Amino acid sequence: MSETEFSSSALGTKEHWDVVYSRELQTFQEYGDEGEIWFGEGSITRVVRWLNAQKVPLTSSILDIGTGNGMLLVELAKSGYSKLLGVDYCADAIALARSICEKEGVSQSIHLQVVDFLGTFGPSELFDICLDKGTFDAVSLDPNGGEDKRSQYVQTLCRILKPNGFFIITSCNWTKDELLAQFGEEFEMKDELLTPTFSFGGHTGRSVTALVLQRRNCS
Ligand SMILES: C[S@@+](CC[C@H](N)C(=O)[O-])C[C@H]1O[C@@H](n2cnc3c(N)ncnc32)[C@H](O)[C@@H]1O
Repeated sequence: MSETEFSSSALGTKEHWDVVYSRELQTFQEYGDEGEIWFGEGSITRVVRWLNAQKVPLTSSILDIGTGNGMLLVELAKSGYSKLLGVDYCADAIALARSICEKEGVSQSIHLQVVDFLGTFGPSELFDICLDKGTFDAVSLDPNGGEDKRSQYVQTLCRILKPNGFFIITSCNWTKDELLAQFGEEFEMKDELLTPTFSFGGHTGRSVTALVLQRRNCS
């Protein structure tokens, strides 16, 4: 699947992701197929290219929130980044990501943990960079109160990201303005990453938004 639309609140439940990644783990074990790359390969290259273009040091600590199969981290490791952590609340996603990292020979650079990002996640050090590709979208669709979950998400993010640290988010559920409304109090916009456009009825739009936000220095 490439530029996918989220359409169902089932995507906001852990049960949904447990079923998805149990199947994807099994497929990987049987056929070696890494599974879905959410929003397509381009969504990975966009992030990696931006970090490279900004000359973000390879020693930066980078967290991928809701890492799924971990493919974004695999590409970052291949690019030379070595302090990478992927978290996901779905144990089979982490098992899949671990197997893929072993196959790709990048396990030394990537740590993986089963973590509910909306729980009591308390890393020992703050991160230089946090990444999200589709996870804030999923959190937003929680049928038991997306709005609460969204503010919990922002609170956790602010707790674990260094002042002036970058948050790079790729979303298909929210426009640039909506994301800025959600994160704008704590973050300022640094960059917008170009995503494919579509035209319909004389209007042009984007189905995926990718923004680089910078944590305001609160001290
Ligand atoms: C659309 S998938 C994207 C996966 C991955 N980022 C990618 O681009 O392939 C959303 C991911 O968020 C994870 N997720 C959703 N809510 C989460 C939470 N509260 N804590 C940790 N992971 C979560 C899901 O298990 C799933 O792996």
